[in-house]
Amino acid sequence: MRLSSRLPHGFEPNALSASLARLRAEGCAILDLTVSNPTRCGFVYPEAEIRVALSSPSVLAYDPDPQGSRLAREAIAAHHGHGLRAEDLLLTASTSEGYGLLFKLLGDPGDEVLVPSPSYPLFDWLARQEGLHARSVPSYFHERWHLDLGALESAVGPRTRAIVVVNPNNPTGHFLSKTEWAGLTDLCGRQGLALLVDEVFADYPLEPPADRLATALLEPDPPCPVFLLSGLSKVAALPQLKLGWLAARGPGAADHLEALAFLADQYLSVSAPAQAAAPTLLALAPGIRQQVRRRLQANLAALDTALARHGRLSRLPVEGGWSALLRRPAVDADQACALRLLEKAATLVHPGSFFDLPGDGHLVLSLLTPEETFQDGLTRIFPCL
Ligand SMILES: Cc1ncc(COP(=O)(O)O)c(C=O)c1O
Repeated sequence: MRLSSRLPHGFEPNALSASLARLRAEGCAILDLTVSNPTRCGFVYPEAEIRVALSSPSVLAYDPDPQGSRLAREAIAAHHGHGLRAEDLLLTASTSEGYGLLFKLLGDPGDEVLVPSPSYPLFDWLARQEGLHARSVPSYFHERWHLDLGALESAVGPRTRAIVVVNPNNPTGHFLSKTEWAGLTDLCGRQGLALLVDEVFADYPLEPPADRLATALLEPDPPCPVFLLSGLSKVAALPQLKLGWLAARGPGAADHLEALAFLADQYLSVSAPAQAAAPTLLALAPGIRQQVRRRLQANLAALDTALARHGRLSRLPVEGGWSALLRRPAVDADQACALRLLEKAATLVHPGSFFDLPGDGHLVLSLLTPEETFQDGLTRIFPCL
């Protein structure tokens, strides 16, 4: 039977995943410098408080609100500040679900969204699963990353419905500048597009430029519909609790939220325990983020120390987020290089091509990696580059 074209043609692992599975099956200890799951990175979570928050008496009652519980939304609004109100928010089980709802809200099958690349690789599939096409528009690097606003404008066609940006971006760490933000909202306003802004990493500035847009919420009245996405995955480093959210601002926000609530009402996917615990989890989040920030800073410092001894290699600025881009002489394709490092140095890194970095010569390292593993990994891979 023919399956939907929303699906890939096959589910064969790529060469890197296949090699990783084989090496692990053979008992080889691989150093993983791609780890993005914070629950596997040795952070000390306030376990007792999290357990208590998840087992309050209210979790036994089913009292669904398609927008999400008011108590949780109030806590999230307070976390963001900038005048955000509980009624501006809708809860989801993840940011991925938030994208799904927004793509359903904004597009019909065959419509498209523009995504400055490199960026989060999930967008292609998230869009495709809603019948939309995610069209990449390359950003460029000149001392720092820049959106190509001219190219974005030229890419707008009759079926374009939205632009999707990540601030700061994954994996480049690029924070939108205030000038880029003004250009983006102006473009979307003129062309009748919505602007989706994923700010899951906004609490993790590392080398932030002075003109960065700290959050899209700085602008209370944007000239186009703006949807902000975030969630506990990064805000509290608790991805397993499956609580995300989106906020709507700009023209038509109240109507958009009403329509989103209608869509969410078909699923009601956010669990009562996650919603009941949200105020406590958000109160605990700064302590967890502090540990994550220290890890990111320590690994970045270790990377710089190692780079000082290897003149052939360098890194791009890490304005924010959880990743660093390592630049190497492009003697082979990124994919081939990552495979070589896995097989010769038993260390896993992401090739830049995985995130659509242009050309060859970039590897992506997760700064979330436990410090000892990160240092050992650098010691193993640098002689091979
Ligand atoms: C850009 C971006 N958005 C969102 C997420 C988190 O998604 P979720 O809330 O679905 O766990 C990630 C995780 O890596 C991400 O990189």
